[in-house]
Amino acid sequence: MERTFVLVKPDGVQRGLIGETIARIEKRGLKLVAARFLQVSPELARRHYAEHEGKGFYDGLIRYITSAPVMAMVWEGPNAVALVRQMMGVTRPGEAAPGSLRHDFGIVIGRNLTHASDSVDNAAKEIALWFKPEEQVDWKRALDPWIFEDN
Ligand code: RTP
Ligand code: MG
Repeated sequence: MERTFVLVKPDGVQRGLIGETIARIEKRGLKLVAARFLQVSPELARRHYAEHEGKGFYDGLIRYITSAPVMAMVWEGPNAVALVRQMMGVTRPGEAAPGSLRHDFGIVIGRNLTHASDSVDNAAKEIALWFKPEEQVDWKRALDPWIFEDN
């Protein structure tokens, strides 16, 4: 079963969109494995966005992600990485598909509300960066066979 890492970024938290984000992912049928509400340190921000170091938007991105608390989560399900990326929408809210979170609540790239892992490999790295193993809960959900199983 695939796992992906999701953040409600500072603008999403300030705008009261934690519940909306969780509700959409939960109702889709993915299973929550870990969650943590925290103020991101500059060091964690730099490690999370290491791939963007040196780019023109990097300093602003670090300021943005450390500007207020975030809600960090791990969600599990078949194809979870691609499913959640699609639900969040592409990076620029103006180009995001209708029905995606960035489309429905966002306007500019600098305030695009959420983060979701872009590959299975990066999901594993991000989950390990943000959560200790004992903070990830392996559990059986009674509804799993009704959502996850093929015939
Ligand atoms: P994220 O990593 O935050 O989920 O977003 P993403 O994969 O859709 O986009 P990515 O290319 O990884 O960029 C990371 C975040 O940096 C900010 N950004 N600003 N001003 C710009 O040109 C620009 N480009 C990227 C956005 O907050 C983006 O989500
Ligand atoms: Mg990214």
